[in-house]
Amino acid sequence: MDMLVVRGGTPLEGRVVVGGAKNSALPIMAAALAADGPSVLYDVPDLVDVSTLSQLLETLGVNVRRQQGGGLRLEVVDDERFVADYELVRRMRAGVCVLGPMLARRGKACVSLPGGCNIGDRPIDLHLKGLRALGADIRIERGYVIAEADQLRGADIYLGGPFGSTVTGTANVMSAAVLADGVTTIEAAACEPEVVDLGNFLNKMGARITGLGTPFLQIEGVERLTGAEHTVIPDRIEAATLMIAAAAAGGRVEVENVCPTHMTAVIEKLREVGVNCEVSAAISPKHSTIEISVPSSLRPADVIALPYPGIPTDVQAQLTALLCGAEGISVVTDKVFPDRFMHAAELVRMGARIRREGYSAIVSGVSQRSGACVMASDLRASAALVISALAAQGESVIRRIYHLDRGYDRLEAKLNSLGANIRRVKDEPANMPASLAPAIIDGTRPNAVSAPHWLAKTPARQTRTI
Ligand code: EPU
Repeated sequence: MDMLVVRGGTPLEGRVVVGGAKNSALPIMAAALAADGPSVLYDVPDLVDVSTLSQLLETLGVNVRRQQGGGLRLEVVDDERFVADYELVRRMRAGVCVLGPMLARRGKACVSLPGGCNIGDRPIDLHLKGLRALGADIRIERGYVIAEADQLRGADIYLGGPFGSTVTGTANVMSAAVLADGVTTIEAAACEPEVVDLGNFLNKMGARITGLGTPFLQIEGVERLTGAEHTVIPDRIEAATLMIAAAAAGGRVEVENVCPTHMTAVIEKLREVGVNCEVSAAISPKHSTIEISVPSSLRPADVIALPYPGIPTDVQAQLTALLCGAEGISVVTDKVFPDRFMHAAELVRMGARIRREGYSAIVSGVSQRSGACVMASDLRASAALVISALAAQGESVIRRIYHLDRGYDRLEAKLNSLGANIRRVKDEPANMPASLAPAIIDGTRPNAVSAPHWLAKTPARQTRTI
């Protein structure tokens, strides 16, 4: 297992390019299950989740290959397979996205339930409700969803749940309804740009979906879908993460390949806290560059994560990390995943002042944070810890960064290209920075029982007082 060693306190400077969106690429790859003929996808990021889904699709009879030039080619070569195995689906929530397209194209799908997650409850009742409405017979057996339907039929479906709509649920139901007999309407559909991107891909395959980007979708079923070529939209969450990192560390950074209309709420919030965000249409109106700079200290702000077009829950942890350094009290609430605050306790280890109150985190800004050894609990929490470590004085160690690799394509390399000092090393005692040893802090050598095991191997010279 790897860990990151981050030396903070250095402002970031330069240009960095955002990759394709993970949460677009994954359901789009899954939708290739429904096609007759090959599809080629561009700007699919190089992530662990993408390779896990590729493996899953291979087990379902899809040939997945990276082409020269970077395109990802997907072609169904065996449509007699139905089982999406627990061992692969449990590693990645998006594994459930194979359910809709496989059911629609093959008449049967047996998909492991995705299981729990560190960001709170993640049921799939709305996915199943939508597919049942299309006429599927669905039962849960031994941890698997078994869905069957000779022919799906168009229906009127309401997909609203207690926390708004569902992103992958809308993807699943939409990817099934495109091959249903008749017209389907989906009310309270998710409006996230990633759902729109999937809908655009399905339309290129021959589907007839209207209303994309609104809560009301109308889908006229077609008999077959062909393969298609598609370029995945830029990753608005990666872009926001890089922008917030630049704001937290200070300096001046240009973030390239951003779709600013996908990021209005984040840009507005950053401006509210005092970050300069200058949007320029460098490449095209859809793919701009945003220049980030911080003229003075940061102001506090209240943040409420909401479904699109609100502030994304996937940026809540990173904004929390930023607000830890603002001058005053901020209140952060997540209305999509109300318990998504595992990062708070780890941020506190770096000197932040955060108190949970109901479904909110009350963040009292501090003028200085110090590096610490922290543990990543999920993908976006990992990014928040990196951001906090960049803003802190001294060295931090971030462990369990396999979460980060699931969803960011070389985040530390991108940040290092801006002048950050981040090393990826094996999570071994020998790699633990001596500066984080307790003896340095209080000037005494810890006793053998309470000392962490790695301290015993740290040379005495380095652990003496400073
Ligand atoms: N929900 C239900 N019933 C359902 C489905 C969802 O009650 O059947 C609830 C959830 O518990 C949650 C809310 O509805 O409170 C929204 O969940 P949603 O289904 O929209 O989440 P998701 O589709 O499982 C995707 C992203 C997440 C992102 C959320 C919200 C992918 C692969 N994942 O998850 O991304 O946080 O939408 O925008 O697209 C990430 O990238 O780090 C990540 C977690």
